[in-house]
Amino acid sequence: MAATRRLSHTVAVITINHPPVNALSSAVRRSLVKEFGDADKDPSVEAIVLSGANGKFSAGADIREFSTSAFKTVPSLEEINGTIEGSRKPVVAAIEGVALGGGLELALACHYRVADIQAHVGLPEVLIGILPAAGGTQRLPRLIGVPAALDMIVRGSRISATEALQLGIVDEVVQNNTIEAAIQLARKVVGRPLDIRRLSAVPVRSPPSIDAFLDAAMEKARRQFRGARAPLACIEAVGASVKLPYSQGVAKERDLFLSLWATGQPQAQQYAFFAERGVGKWSLPTGGRWDTVPPKPIRSAAVIGLGTMGRGIVISLSKAKIPVIALEQDMKQLEQGSKAVNGLLEREAEKMKKQGQTAALGNGLGSVHFTVDFGELRDVDLIIEAVYENMKLKKEIFRRLSSICKPDAFLCTNTSGLNIDEIASVTNRPQQVIGTHFFSPANIMRLLEVVRGRETSLTTIATAMNIGKVLGKVAVLVGNCPLFVGNRMLGPYLDQANYLLEEGCRPEEVDQALEEFGFAMGPFRMMDLAGLDVGWRSRMEKGLTGAKVPAGTPTCQRGGTRYSPLADMLCELGRFGQKSGKGWYQYGEPGGRNAKPDPWVLVFLEMYRSTHQIKQRPVNREEILERCLYALINEGFKVLEDGIASGPEDIDVIYNNGYGWPKHTGGPMYYAATVGLPRVLEQLEKYYKANVDVPNMKPTFLLKKLAAVGGPPIKEWRTQLGNLSNKL
Ligand code: 3HC
Ligand code: NAI
Repeated sequence: MAATRRLSHTVAVITINHPPVNALSSAVRRSLVKEFGDADKDPSVEAIVLSGANGKFSAGADIREFSTSAFKTVPSLEEINGTIEGSRKPVVAAIEGVALGGGLELALACHYRVADIQAHVGLPEVLIGILPAAGGTQRLPRLIGVPAALDMIVRGSRISATEALQLGIVDEVVQNNTIEAAIQLARKVVGRPLDIRRLSAVPVRSPPSIDAFLDAAMEKARRQFRGARAPLACIEAVGASVKLPYSQGVAKERDLFLSLWATGQPQAQQYAFFAERGVGKWSLPTGGRWDTVPPKPIRSAAVIGLGTMGRGIVISLSKAKIPVIALEQDMKQLEQGSKAVNGLLEREAEKMKKQGQTAALGNGLGSVHFTVDFGELRDVDLIIEAVYENMKLKKEIFRRLSSICKPDAFLCTNTSGLNIDEIASVTNRPQQVIGTHFFSPANIMRLLEVVRGRETSLTTIATAMNIGKVLGKVAVLVGNCPLFVGNRMLGPYLDQANYLLEEGCRPEEVDQALEEFGFAMGPFRMMDLAGLDVGWRSRMEKGLTGAKVPAGTPTCQRGGTRYSPLADMLCELGRFGQKSGKGWYQYGEPGGRNAKPDPWVLVFLEMYRSTHQIKQRPVNREEILERCLYALINEGFKVLEDGIASGPEDIDVIYNNGYGWPKHTGGPMYYAATVGLPRVLEQLEKYYKANVDVPNMKPTFLLKKLAAVGGPPIKEWRTQLGNLSNKL
């Protein structure tokens, strides 16, 4: 049964039972109607408690049903909510685990809500491209006021039970026995008037000048969620809760839901939702299945190097309550690193306190011990190295770890692109060496690329993937090649951005086009933020800078391949980006964050073009987008061909979570599928013809193959990939 009912004295306890998350499928909805109807008719029942089985109230509507006819079958969740709210007998929601989306909407239709202290509630629909569509946009503002409701709905944030109590979303928070507490409350309120508990009938508390408030919210959302339609629809729906009576507000909510569906964005975001959950389940291109191998428990960890990345990794581990040893090369660096880490830990503890998450265990964080002594790492289960990106140094560290650490310890490197096999080769346990590529800032960014080396064992992979989960990251397993997946695909994208400047664009024009497409930041603002000198130093180390190019060639080349020396030239002039106050933009002062177009850059570009006799030409937005995006996508196909990512979903998860790719387009590979692979191929061929010295624009074999069969839906690509790998 999708929902069951039992009697506790005079209280009927209805339990949603649809593992794993009690999603409100059509079967659950039908079952709920029956159980509520029976409880209503039963004269021995004075009150009703609604709960979820297995410690979870409900994760909301069954997302898998959205694209099927089951979603449209009656009764709708909104109808059920109306029935519950209208019940003559008091209904109390007993919230354990999560009440998300339709789950919270169901709880809002109940007259009272009791939550377990560990529970979380929220309306995350916006994150899957839709809006709460079972009265949530109308009931929540009536309960907690427009500003707080709007904030929760537009951001899709999940809040703790303690915060929910402070906001007035729940009436009680209990330490344990939530269902028993709900039964007690239900008994207590029998006979009390229910009208004031029926949210649809409660007046909305709204700011005095609601129009100005909503306009400002719209403006902010347009800036913040570039191109995404759902946040705007959420604002419109909340606005309707103020301006329209409940019944019309709900009708508006429904219309907005349908109009969003027609944009294709919900489908893209729901693909991204399931892609994220699927990344842990694919077999290796080599055939091995790591997901059937049990991961080793990690009870202690160490981080080597407390720079930008090491600090964030320490915080992540500590937040997951894993005791960490944090090691630096000398006392001075240790002092600096520990000060930064302690500052971040204090902020985390403060945040957790506010959310009511500080448990019996001190401040709810794992301990951090600082040292410069490698000897202290001898008993640690897992070590993550995060020193400078230098192969010689990394090898030195791994050699040392190999002799000091216990034989079953796992050795991980945070390298952003060095050869894992080469690093592993200096150890006595290459099977326990793996790349754990965090993204900056490591305590915030969700992505973790787990890089398997040639000899990495399935247990090591399973353990690293599990650590990603424990840290709350989205871990994606990738193969070992220069720059792995994300950074490798970024190269051709940045190359195109640079070529566009050579040919006639301004940095802000390129950035604007890509930001309008939905990127959090265009390529030039991103390079300025990351620091242009990072890439420049690494190119210099490898002898790859090419600023000294002969004049008179229209495009500069290096080794027969087009190469733009513009970034190197900026670095030679000390323009490293934000850190030096100037880069592709000007920032007023070193460390400034406000990017302003710099007239100097235009003069610089003009001089460059005149030196190389490049005739400036107008480049339209379409060309900017196609060249940058298709170059990146083409490299994605190459990554698939090379077996570095196991499928297109993995690439999309990487880009959605680590590179600010607009999730409402699904990710680069999903986006290519929606554009149509024949079209992507046609345009790439055109651009490649005009630039044969840009090899990464040459359409890949896999793209051609998929385009030749008409560009099948993305879920069929793996089959084609399988056929392809048989032939390679
Ligand atoms: N519908 C269908 N399947 C769902 C689901 C949902 N709402 N929520 C989770 N699942 C599935 C996942 O796909 C996964 O399936 P799998 O085992 O086959 O891969 C399984 O449940 C477990 O999910 P997670 O791996 O994500 O488990 P976690 O424990 O890490 O997280 C969770 C649990 C916090 C509930 C998380 O899954 C989540 O955030 N779910 C989505 C919540 C959401 O967006 N709700 C709104 C739905 S839309 C809605 O309600 C519309 C309404 O307004 C009408
Ligand atoms: P960083 O320069 O900020 O910090 C490196 C730290 O390592 C310094 O604090 C230094 O003192 C320490 N260190 C150097 N030698 C050491 C030794 N022998 N023993 C102990 N500590 C030592 O570097 P960052 O940016 O944190 O990068 C670290 C690694 O992470 C690199 O491999 C980098 O490629 C990678 N990475 C960097 C990202 C970024 O955005 N900065 C993103 C993802 C990966």
